[in-house]
Amino acid sequence: QVAAASGHTVVLVDQSNEILKKSTKGIEESLKRVTKKKFADKPEDGAEFIKKTLKNLTTSTDAASVVHSTDLVIEAIVENLEVKNELFKRLDKFAPEHTIFASNTSSLQITAMANATTRQDRFGGLHFFNPVPMMKLVEVIKTPMTSKKTFESLVDFSKAVGKSPVSCKDTPGFIVNRLLVPYMMEAVRLFERGDASKEDIDVAMKLGAGYPMGPFELLDYVGLDTSKYIIDGWHSLEPNNPLFAPSPLLNKLVEEKKLGKKTGEGFYKYK
Ligand code: 3HC
Repeated sequence: QVAAASGHTVVLVDQSNEILKKSTKGIEESLKRVTKKKFADKPEDGAEFIKKTLKNLTTSTDAASVVHSTDLVIEAIVENLEVKNELFKRLDKFAPEHTIFASNTSSLQITAMANATTRQDRFGGLHFFNPVPMMKLVEVIKTPMTSKKTFESLVDFSKAVGKSPVSCKDTPGFIVNRLLVPYMMEAVRLFERGDASKEDIDVAMKLGAGYPMGPFELLDYVGLDTSKYIIDGWHSLEPNNPLFAPSPLLNKLVEEKKLGKKTGEGFYKYK
């Protein structure tokens, strides 16, 4: 959405036309929200902006067949290294020499993905934040193999889509999640110990620390499955780090498919 809105030609790829239809509808709705504010005084310009943005966006269910014309591939699939590597390996065969590959992973090692391809120097991380149309940050991740040119292209692209890039080495969680995930997990542990209600913890962090969402609202918003993937991955890397300890409550909710806002229930219920 943000790439198309900033004039880039985008091919959105997913597994089925059904998913793509849902994604396109989501983008249309999000664009309406953005436009309402941006073009408050000129709704006709807003309608034109939506039309132009959607014109920049096409969809496909076959990544290999569309990658031949791309300068940049941004992968945002399931947080599973094997599945990601399989995709990158396949795209590596069909993509032009100059094409840069980037992953939007929240917690996996970029270096491990780059090593699945023959373009380690043209590989980096491009980590966006929910909700992407609103959040201004992009973390640009360089591995020891990422070339200066690739890094600069990723920084330039981030700026071209209207974001403010920061750079980080390929370390677990990069900057934001390395700080945010342990904080959210500490909130869950506080609640699990019965020290405070989740509602009071959320109010406390909003009114006492100025956060726009409390930790439980944010966990539900990000998705409990995503949060569990992240913490489980880090726990396996550093089993003795108490900040990365798994939470029985989080595990139970995920097992019950209560994944947050997207499934209608997580820590809270959503209509
Ligand atoms: N698309 C377009 N616009 C959106 C939107 C979306 N998906 N979501 C919200 N907005 C817009 C709304 O339309 C609204 O616009 P308005 O000011 O013109 O009315 C504006 O954002 C504010 O929305 P709301 O009034 O509904 O609610 P809030 O004032 O609470 O703002 C929020 C919503 C921007 C999401 C804010 O609560 C926030 O900043 N929350 C914290 C988000 C955060 O921490 N994200 C990082 C998560 S970590 C992550 O993503 C990393 C990953 O790896 C796990």
